[in-house]
Amino acid sequence: MTRRAEFEMGLFLVLQFMFMLSLCSSEELLPEISSPDTSPQPFLPFIAPSPMVPFINTTIPKLSGLCSLNFTASEGLIQTTSHNCWTVFAPLLANVMCCPQLDATLTITLGKASKETGLLALNRTQSKHCVSDLEKILVGKGASSKLRSICSLYSSNLTASSCPVINVDEFESAVDTSKLLLACEKVDPVKECCEQACQNAILDAATNITLKASEPLTDNSVRINDCKNVVQRWLATKLEPSQAKETLRGLANCKINRVCPLVFPDMRDISGNCSNELSNQMGCCGAMESYVSHLQKQALITNLQALDCATSLGTKLQKLNITKNVFSVCHISLKDFSLQESGCLLPSLPSDAIFDQDTGISFTCDLNDNIPAPWPSSSSSSASTCKKPVTIPALPAAASSQPGLYNEGVTRLVIFVLSLVLVILLS
Ligand SMILES: *[C@@H]1O[C@H](CO)[C@@H](O)[C@H](O)[C@H]1NC(C)=O
Ligand SMILES: *[C@@H]1O[C@H](CO)[C@@H](O)[C@H](O)[C@H]1NC(C)=O
Ligand SMILES: *[C@@H]1O[C@H](CO)[C@@H](O)[C@H](O)[C@H]1NC(C)=O
Ligand SMILES: *[C@@H]1O[C@H](CO)[C@@H](O)[C@H](O)[C@H]1NC(C)=O
Ligand SMILES: *[C@@H]1O[C@H](CO)[C@@H](O)[C@H](O)[C@H]1NC(C)=O
Ligand SMILES: *[C@@H]1O[C@H](CO)[C@@H](O)[C@H](O)[C@H]1NC(C)=O
Ligand SMILES: *[C@@H]1O[C@H](CO)[C@@H](O)[C@H](O)[C@H]1NC(C)=O
Repeated sequence: MTRRAEFEMGLFLVLQFMFMLSLCSSEELLPEISSPDTSPQPFLPFIAPSPMVPFINTTIPKLSGLCSLNFTASEGLIQTTSHNCWTVFAPLLANVMCCPQLDATLTITLGKASKETGLLALNRTQSKHCVSDLEKILVGKGASSKLRSICSLYSSNLTASSCPVINVDEFESAVDTSKLLLACEKVDPVKECCEQACQNAILDAATNITLKASEPLTDNSVRINDCKNVVQRWLATKLEPSQAKETLRGLANCKINRVCPLVFPDMRDISGNCSNELSNQMGCCGAMESYVSHLQKQALITNLQALDCATSLGTKLQKLNITKNVFSVCHISLKDFSLQESGCLLPSLPSDAIFDQDTGISFTCDLNDNIPAPWPSSSSSSASTCKKPVTIPALPAAASSQPGLYNEGVTRLVIFVLSLVLVILLS
């Protein structure tokens, strides 16, 4: 029986997640890790889906026939999106990998269409059909069926919304296109987050086209925001698709890494247990651990996001008059903020998930093991990517998993591939 046939029988499907630590180098790279035990350990057991979760439905979905976008021409982008938004992982990777890739796919596909139509937006009716068709295509390739809510996908994501200019000719006459292209054709994903050259050019262009509106508003911020999407669609027509994708994801990463995406629940137990004198260290650390374990269940986050989260939590604790560094007292590390104890921190520029017939979905983690969560000092209130006052040796640079981009000080950086193996059992 072929593997595909097994999938389609779908009698009983158990997804088992294996955690395979494949160290890229020998062990001396990580002397600090107490026991780099390579035996597989269970990972993410709590999200194990129900046995009836459909695997890949290879049937071609029935589309509306009313969407003029050519999804075939965006095949590669769509494939990557379906992997980044893979069923059970979509909610966990939403913020960092799934939704930014979906957004880039929409932008580039629409940009391509504008070469034919001369328009950088669809009307509402068209948009509704296209969003729904794209969703069906993605689900057909294994993506979560809840993308709409996970990624706030609305039909407005393909329309002009409140932006007054969508005609390519009109756009090009209102915008200094060479200036915009110069700033955005080659975006360095690390420098851009600090210097914001392309982001500022996009804002500038969006502001300029916003001013073309026939009825002026006192507050243009919503319009400018909508116009930024239009500017990005235009940019996507001028860049090679792969370059456009890199640029859009790079811009998204700057935004992503600036904020902690976790929701901080009530801190009553911590404030009750961690008095300033820390008279009851065990009680305090117990409360901290229990609190952090709640945070861990939320999402996979990037190393820079973990830093943001540590700063947010530390600041909140300080507001509760907890002035002692309880992160240090209780050994809270950066990886503690990411999903589960295994602590997969994604790189600050996460690479796309990869699907393999045999191993399933895998993605790369930057495991900065045992990097203590920095306790915010009053002077450094934000973990900004640019002026990084943190001196932790292995603080992840705003770099991708290209080793060449890491800080020289990084000695303990370990990249490993977290392989999530799907084991199919037929009953
Ligand atoms: C596969 O897709 C078809 C057509 O969209 C649908 O009718 C069927 O229920 C799907 N099967 C599964 C297991 O999701
Ligand atoms: C859609 O794009 C594909 C690949 O670029 C092309 O072969 C096909 O003709 C296009 N279809 C339409 C309707 O334009
Ligand atoms: C769609 O638009 C909404 C509102 O502007 C935005 O929050 C969301 O991120 C967009 N979704 C995608 C997938 O681009
Ligand atoms: C929306 O756009 C489509 C395709 O461009 C067109 O056929 C349709 O008439 C438009 N609908 C409205 C309400 O403008
Ligand atoms: C926006 O308009 C200002 C003022 O006319 C101009 O200096 C600037 O170059 C324009 N920027 C873009 C990106 O079009
Ligand atoms: C201390 O923390 C525990 C949970 O770790 C909680 O049950 C208890 O209520 C807390 N005590 C106070 C005084 O807040
Ligand atoms: C923190 O301490 C200050 C001064 O001791 C006090 O005024 C304030 O109410 C305390 N805040 C909290 C949240 O306990």
